Amino acid sequence: MNAESALSTDRPATQTVVIELDERGYDILIGSGLLDAESSWQGLPRAAAALIVSNETVAPLYLERLRASLLKVYPRVEAVLLADGEEFKDWDSLNRIFDHLLGGAMDRKTVLFALGGGVVGDMTGFAAAVYMRGVPFVQVATTLLAQVDSSVGGKTAINHPLGKNMIGAFYQPARVIADLDTLDTLPARELSAGLAEIIKYGPIADAAFLEWIELNLEALLARDKKALAYAVKRCCEIKAWVVGQDEREQGLRAILNFGHTFGHAIETGLGYGKWLHGEAVGCGMVMASDLSVRMGLMPAEFLPRMQRLISRAGLPVRGPQLGLQRYLELMRVDKKAEGGQIRFVLVEGLGRAGMHAAPDALVGDVLASHCDQ
Ligand code: NAD
Ligand code: GLY
Repeated sequence: MNAESALSTDRPATQTVVIELDERGYDILIGSGLLDAESSWQGLPRAAAALIVSNETVAPLYLERLRASLLKVYPRVEAVLLADGEEFKDWDSLNRIFDHLLGGAMDRKTVLFALGGGVVGDMTGFAAAVYMRGVPFVQVATTLLAQVDSSVGGKTAINHPLGKNMIGAFYQPARVIADLDTLDTLPARELSAGLAEIIKYGPIADAAFLEWIELNLEALLARDKKALAYAVKRCCEIKAWVVGQDEREQGLRAILNFGHTFGHAIETGLGYGKWLHGEAVGCGMVMASDLSVRMGLMPAEFLPRMQRLISRAGLPVRGPQLGLQRYLELMRVDKKAEGGQIRFVLVEGLGRAGMHAAPDALVGDVLASHCDQ
């Protein structure tokens, strides 16, 4: 698709991307009007009850529509609402889900529906993984970030004050629903945060997609449905390809964390919720791009190219000044670290990435170049 065709305002037809994981495989449905369509729920596990998990921001927008839609399929549909924000991605919120499930005597066939962004999705998935040792769940992703990344692939987690997403499980959803119409109500800052994860897929896996994003960024920022549909589908295809080969991140899957080692340090260092996850990843990608150049893996022009794109997407390109030692300390708690040795996802050529250790001095130079003093 080129920039011109992306600017059409037609409603895109529903597209399906398949996650191939044998008996844990599932479909991602991408399109308009999916929230209200009974067909969105066809073929899901049947149960006496469904529980929608959402939050106080998303529920007033979409809860009653989803409930009405699910009532065509499930006899009983209940809802539990969590506080909104990354800082509430914790044990207390998780317990609210369990309180509701146990308080309502909901059995082990109950299907959970995560209605929201990555925070609701990650917590609902974790609750589904451990409630009665596992119940089915469906991701109804309502942020751009969730549609292109967090709802797909089965990583579920809560945060710990000492590290992001440190407590969790791999647990695949039964389906992912990406209704593009829900993006109409997303605040601009959240749209930009989603663009960070879209941009990520280019340098690590698809050089042509990076060019497509550069050409179509304005259409994406204007929420053109066809452009969004293409971007969500391409990201899900790349993620499906990666997760299909390495579901539990023994190797390849780590490339999806490009920019995340620096990004998670920013989020944890500032306190959860100060910067959005996508903002921290955007800035983290600038730092990781610079490190790729300094390590001799990429030509010098790669850094300004990434800086330009990330900045055009409305994302920060300069990090907070936490101090080198604090950054290093935080990055050593990253899940990719081994024996206290930080490992970075670096770009090794456009469309290809790998894991690399880097000297602290070089990391220090990168932080000094890209952090406010
Ligand atoms: P989020 O879930 O906090 O949602 C962002 C904000 O948008 C929230 O205030 C939310 O209430 C609001 N919102 C959601 N949908 C809306 C809509 N349609 N209209 C208006 N407002 C809406 O943040 P996010 O960016 O979706 O997700 C970030 C989280 O995802 C982080 O916790 C991150 O660690 C996690 N994540 C997980 C994975 C994974 O593989 N599991 C991947 C990437 C990110
Ligand atoms: N977002 C990183 C992953 O799913 O592996």
